Amino acid sequence: MRTKLVVGNWKMNCGIEETKILLESILKNYNGANLNNLLQVCVCPSFTSLSTAFKILESNTIALGAQDVSINDNGAFTGEVSIAMLKELDCQFVIVGHSERRMYFKESDELINKKVKKILENNLTPIICVGETLEQKENNQTKEVIKKQIHGVTNNLSNEDLLKIVIAYEPVWAIGTGKNATPDQAEEVHLFIRKLLTLKSTINVSESISIIYGGSVKPENSKQLVAMENIDGFLVGGASLKSNLFLEIIHSF
Ligand code: 13P
Repeated sequence: MRTKLVVGNWKMNCGIEETKILLESILKNYNGANLNNLLQVCVCPSFTSLSTAFKILESNTIALGAQDVSINDNGAFTGEVSIAMLKELDCQFVIVGHSERRMYFKESDELINKKVKKILENNLTPIICVGETLEQKENNQTKEVIKKQIHGVTNNLSNEDLLKIVIAYEPVWAIGTGKNATPDQAEEVHLFIRKLLTLKSTINVSESISIIYGGSVKPENSKQLVAMENIDGFLVGGASLKSNLFLEIIHSF
């Protein structure tokens, strides 16, 4: 059985006070014990709120994740945050290659691949984002784009490494637009990703990798999406900032 995952990507929202309020509201109604124990929930606040979230989540089953990491260990890299700094705060997950970082900060598959290796060397779990733009979708390039991204970001990973990654399929046209991929559309791409991973490794390895979906996930669509064979959870943006919506999504499993 693959691990099911619900990850809240808070993006550049929630300072310290808002982080406290949001997390306390999630925890008040989050009954981890009633959930299928194969479901892992994780929140990824901004860097400045990680320490606050770390203290609040200390004895909880909700994991902490970061939204990015540097490929460098320390030194003169103004504005960067190292993996050791994330480990100090007990981060277990790191999102890498989000389309917003690819688009606004020109991150390449090669750089993302270096980040993935840094994360794996440090025994954290990378959540590696891939996804096509609206233009690419309309030009029927979805599979070509996804194939290139998957090959790039997983370059030179061993089977052992691949067993420790999470892939997030986030079609760019569905992010923050209210237009989610239909369950069939998402399933088709998830299955395609799994086949690519099989070709890179073995069927046993690819069948163990969690592939989660992101892009306008909300309580109204989460149940149908997660009913699909190859959708193993969600990377949630906007709806993860509202505790009631996030909890409803968690409870769709
Ligand atoms: P939305 O859920 O707001 O569409 O954002 C998705 C996303 O980018 C998560 O990483």
